[in-house]
Amino acid sequence: MKILLVGASGTLGGAVRTALAGRGHDMITVGRTGGDVVCDITDPEAVGRLYERVAGGSGLDAVVCAAGDAVFKPLGELTADDVAASFRGKALSQIELVRQGSRHLSPAGSFTLISGVLTQEPILAGAAASAANGAVEAFVRAAAIELPPQRINAVSPTVVTESLDAYGAFFPGMESVPLSRVANAYVRSVEGRQTGRIYEVA
Ligand SMILES: NC(=O)c1ccc[n+]([C@@H]2O[C@H](COP(=O)([O-])OP(=O)(O)OC[C@H]3O[C@@H](n4cnc5c(N)ncnc54)[C@H](OP(=O)(O)O)[C@@H]3O)[C@@H](O)[C@H]2O)c1
Repeated sequence: MKILLVGASGTLGGAVRTALAGRGHDMITVGRTGGDVVCDITDPEAVGRLYERVAGGSGLDAVVCAAGDAVFKPLGELTADDVAASFRGKALSQIELVRQGSRHLSPAGSFTLISGVLTQEPILAGAAASAANGAVEAFVRAAAIELPPQRINAVSPTVVTESLDAYGAFFPGMESVPLSRVANAYVRSVEGRQTGRIYEVA
């Protein structure tokens, strides 16, 4: 398959890239600062240019996202800009990938978005991220009834073991998961037949 992978240089994205490339897929990598194509997916016009550039010829078979920033601050310190930035960084960006991407995707193609455990298991200072993750998951369920025969799923991991040094303090007492399990969930979404699923990796 010809697969567009956003966030390929990141912790999750690197593992997803290795897993999908290892299964023989043709990967086109996207990042804010590097990759085959540089694109900030929070900019709808840049997303349009991205698709015009990569989807020529036979189009894409899958769009996979492992990118999305949110602001982590105690609720009492969150500004309106922080909340807007979190929705733009994690939810609106991914919705835009789907909204614009559908016409560039093959009829049997799929979208796989990223959410996270905070939808179900809130943590201190994570309210904006929880809300943005919830928006991603609600969008996936809704889009799944309009996209067929194209498919859409989300992967919702808890904190990954390889990120514990960076984020472990935010997740006291919560078990981590190895990146390989997260990458497997992406493979399942891309190569499987289900749609409208939230693949929790916990
Ligand atoms: N790590 C975890 O334990 C964990 C657990 C659950 C969920 N998640 C979610 O998984 C996603 C990835 O996390 P991560 O830890 O892998 O992050 P990461 O290591 O910081 O990597 C993020 C990647 O996404 C790219 N990116 C970020 N914003 C972008 C934008 N607006 N446009 C284009 N590319 C963008 C980055 O590109 P540049 O480097 O060029 O900026 C980078 O390649 C996040 O949404 C996070 O909430 C992570």
